[in-house]
Amino acid sequence: MCGIVGYVGNKQALDVVLEGLRRLEYRGYDSAGVALAVDGTLATAKRSGKLANLEKTLAETPLPASTTGLGHTRWATHGPPTDRNAHPHLDTAGRVGVVHNGIIENFAQLRSELEDSGVAFESDTDTEVVSHLLAAEFGSPGVGHDLAEAMRRVCRRLEGAFTLVAMHSDVPDAVVAARRNSPLVVGLGDGENFLASDVSAFIGHTREALEVGDGQVVEITRDGVTVTDFAGRECQPGRYHVDWDASAAEKGGFDHFMLKEIAEQPKAVADTLLGRIDEAGRLHLDEMRLSDDELRDVDKIIVIACGTAFHAGLVAKYAIEHWTRVPCEVELASEFRYRDPIVDRQTLVLAISQSGETMDTLMAVRHAREQGARVLAISNTNGATIPRESDAVLYTRAGPEVAVASTKAHLTQLVACYLVALYLGQLRGTKWGDEIRWVVRELAELPAKVEHVLQTVQPVRDLAASLRDKGSVLFIGRHVGYPVALEGALKLKELAYMHAEGFAAGELKHGPIALIEPGVPVVVIVPSPRGRDVLHDKVVSNIQEIRARGALTVVIAEEGDDAVKPYADHLVTLPECPTLLQPVLATVPLQVFAAEMARLRGFDVDQPRNLAKSVTVE
Ligand code: M6R
Repeated sequence: MCGIVGYVGNKQALDVVLEGLRRLEYRGYDSAGVALAVDGTLATAKRSGKLANLEKTLAETPLPASTTGLGHTRWATHGPPTDRNAHPHLDTAGRVGVVHNGIIENFAQLRSELEDSGVAFESDTDTEVVSHLLAAEFGSPGVGHDLAEAMRRVCRRLEGAFTLVAMHSDVPDAVVAARRNSPLVVGLGDGENFLASDVSAFIGHTREALEVGDGQVVEITRDGVTVTDFAGRECQPGRYHVDWDASAAEKGGFDHFMLKEIAEQPKAVADTLLGRIDEAGRLHLDEMRLSDDELRDVDKIIVIACGTAFHAGLVAKYAIEHWTRVPCEVELASEFRYRDPIVDRQTLVLAISQSGETMDTLMAVRHAREQGARVLAISNTNGATIPRESDAVLYTRAGPEVAVASTKAHLTQLVACYLVALYLGQLRGTKWGDEIRWVVRELAELPAKVEHVLQTVQPVRDLAASLRDKGSVLFIGRHVGYPVALEGALKLKELAYMHAEGFAAGELKHGPIALIEPGVPVVVIVPSPRGRDVLHDKVVSNIQEIRARGALTVVIAEEGDDAVKPYADHLVTLPECPTLLQPVLATVPLQVFAAEMARLRGFDVDQPRNLAKSVTVE
């Protein structure tokens, strides 16, 4: 939700912190701020709006040099996005600086206690209580100048989810952080160390990282990293090597990260398949850490996810039930635990999350595990909380996704879901070997087919130009085309701020068809004509129904599907593909359509208003 960075080393801390914030800005861009340790004081700067506002301020009024600092980019929860509410937040004496990601649920009670003791607050945030509490603990008996101990004591009083990074002017060579249910990683350098919400912040300096566990406090200095739990017991964090470099987190010549990430999809899909299918067409997912017996034992699958990942889950249901004959439910993670779901040891919960940090999904994972379910995470982020807390994990290999709107991560989520479903089909014997091999061959062709869609997508951009002033765009599809319709609508809403809705094509006549009036664009996702004829023919009938009522039809169909041509005002064609796999292709023109629409309407393609990449509050 917010992005946080801490640094101690030999370089100019401001440069390192700003570089980190640039890479983390996708997490929130309501305000940005920095603090540096300078000659026994803290020098700070903060501004509402995007990081560029802060950079402009720093160019006009530079801060003194320092090799210890922290920074923050905010997605507002408590208090509007103003200068005053921008982080870092200081204590009354200006000696403690704190940045925070998450929500401190008991902040009102803590604030009133502090106010009763005479503390005057400068902001509306929940974070500021931490600055005052740290100031009160620092120097107290049993704490002295041990900022980590002060942090541990404060954390024991906090409720809610948080990552905190703090400095004290009396300890100018250390930065301390703490986490509970919110992401934090340590970057290990040579004579320098880093703290950040994710590794992209320091990837230009080091690819060696430590996973900080939940309920732990970290202190970094130039030469060392110390990790303890909130009680002060030493912990041994896991160390890992990041297998991508700084160039993966740059725009690489594209105007926007989203365009680069759309273009990277053929490779992302290929990478996600790599090494998971052998030459004989058999799947190998041993990395998942679930035994064959455990997987054979499963009698129900529940997919939980949010947003675009949820749409991948909806597609997964069709594949899972078709290939494994195991009943599968798909549920929004934010709803899951509040409905008292029926879950037991034989339930396999599939938690899909690009970031691996989405709080709604994390809470659903925990609930499922408490009920005895086995949880298999599908995530794009090594070492994130959801994969770490799950029984098993299948990583997508999309590489870092920076644009807030998910594209390449989504396509790889679809592929990962197919792999899991096929693997279960293979293991449980619900599919013949030659049927699996046929699907595997089709999966292997997807990267080239996605590339073909990208090469032929220009008419979709032209279409966006012709529809840019429309008030509303509807999307319809059947079977796996329905989640594609939902995804097309979500992309257009989040990027172009247009009214957009996705419907199951068969549902139109039960109400939404009343929305059709002359000129309303309706995007229709048509299944392969070579698949189940009934499915295809029903969608063709739906196109005729809406066209008869004046809709402007944008038809996405397979090349050579002559049946749709008479009813398509605009036709977008896709390479031949089995219907179950078609979402991997059909989603791509919709991504391009939404990005182009945002550009034409003058909106920020990478950082749409009010959003953040990773939603770490419930
Ligand atoms: O990181 P996650 O996959 O858990 O994120 C889930 C959603 O927040 C995310 O897909 C969101 O809907 C995107 N902005 C969609 O483009």
